[in-house]
Amino acid sequence: MRKDKEKVILAYSGGLDTSVCIHWLRKRGFRVFAFCADVGQGEDFRPIRKRALACGAERVILRDLRTPFIQEYILPALKAGAVYEGKYLLGTALSRPLIAEALAECARREGAGAVAHGCTGKGNDQVRLEVSLKILAPHLKVLAPVREWELKSRGEEIRYAQRHKLPIARKSESRFSIDQNLWGVSIESGPLEDPWKEPPSAAYRWTKDPARAPSKAERVTVEFVKGVPVALNGKRLSAGSLIQRLNLLGARHGIGRADLIEDRLVGIKSHEVYEAPAATLLHAAHRELEQLTLDRELLAFKELISQRYARMIYDGLWFTPLKSALEAFVEETQRFVTGRVRLRLYKGNAAAVGRASRHSLYSKSLATYASSDRFDPRWAEGFITLWGLPYLRRRAR
Ligand code: ARG
Repeated sequence: MRKDKEKVILAYSGGLDTSVCIHWLRKRGFRVFAFCADVGQGEDFRPIRKRALACGAERVILRDLRTPFIQEYILPALKAGAVYEGKYLLGTALSRPLIAEALAECARREGAGAVAHGCTGKGNDQVRLEVSLKILAPHLKVLAPVREWELKSRGEEIRYAQRHKLPIARKSESRFSIDQNLWGVSIESGPLEDPWKEPPSAAYRWTKDPARAPSKAERVTVEFVKGVPVALNGKRLSAGSLIQRLNLLGARHGIGRADLIEDRLVGIKSHEVYEAPAATLLHAAHRELEQLTLDRELLAFKELISQRYARMIYDGLWFTPLKSALEAFVEETQRFVTGRVRLRLYKGNAAAVGRASRHSLYSKSLATYASSDRFDPRWAEGFITLWGLPYLRRRAR
């Protein structure tokens, strides 16, 4: 049993930080199991596995988490309309509780008493991972080498890797810190640290510069059933391939870039850019369909829930009663969100140009200015009198 205590499951990405983590933990007497989560980042895991072993990992464990990521995280966030500070579609934030859950499960299976991650002490991800772990597996020890070690910069980490002959990836020399998955890419540091400087085009990984996107607009129709996207241009697809296709299509039209001065949970403002083509298109289409099928009061109230839900995700409070309670509300609202939305993609923009639903609340006979009008203008008079009544009293007195 004592030996089990020395096992540590490290959340491994293949990047610079976690590669150095393997070596650093190994040097401190741990048996390191590198745990790689496939959340649709589209990376080749063979070189990553090799790298982990070369850095000193005893074993490499790969788990395909794409299905639970889509079903239990991405789709609920889409239905909830979760957007943080008006721009961030939460790709990174959504993946963290799932990775924490998988880490805990892996530790249980392997009989490990500790898990580790490569987050810095300044970010949100450490909070999301560790709060989730505390809730799910409070007995586990959590190690955060990057928070502890003496290496003060990326440069020092690179030198450490060179000194110990660790085979770090070429892109580790990149000036940016990148996290990506099926729902988007988060890019920070390097040239982005000056908020006055325009992000260089090299910062973006997926999307075309909108100025260079095709000058011919393209239309795409997304179909939803109860808030869940089920088809593109009339073709039924799994949510996974639908998202994949929209990522490619949106990227080609320069859609889904966001540039945000963001408030981190730990009190720091940071400058980050994001790319989330599919998420942007799906949120736009979903929102449009809600606008057609939900009444005004419900829409307005849901907006509050959306903000709260986004913040719950951002703050790492996924495994809490707040999440379940918010989700119950959201589920209830999605009963009527079934129908189709047509988007027009053009140079970085996605505009809804058509919407249809059997639950549509739009009534042409009420809205029309033609002779088929069923709206009696006399209804307006009494309504206006009552609507304005509270404000007239003072004068009348
Ligand atoms: N700021 C984003 C968040 O807190 C992304 C963090 C990870 N970004 C990165 N480039 N490593 O969710």
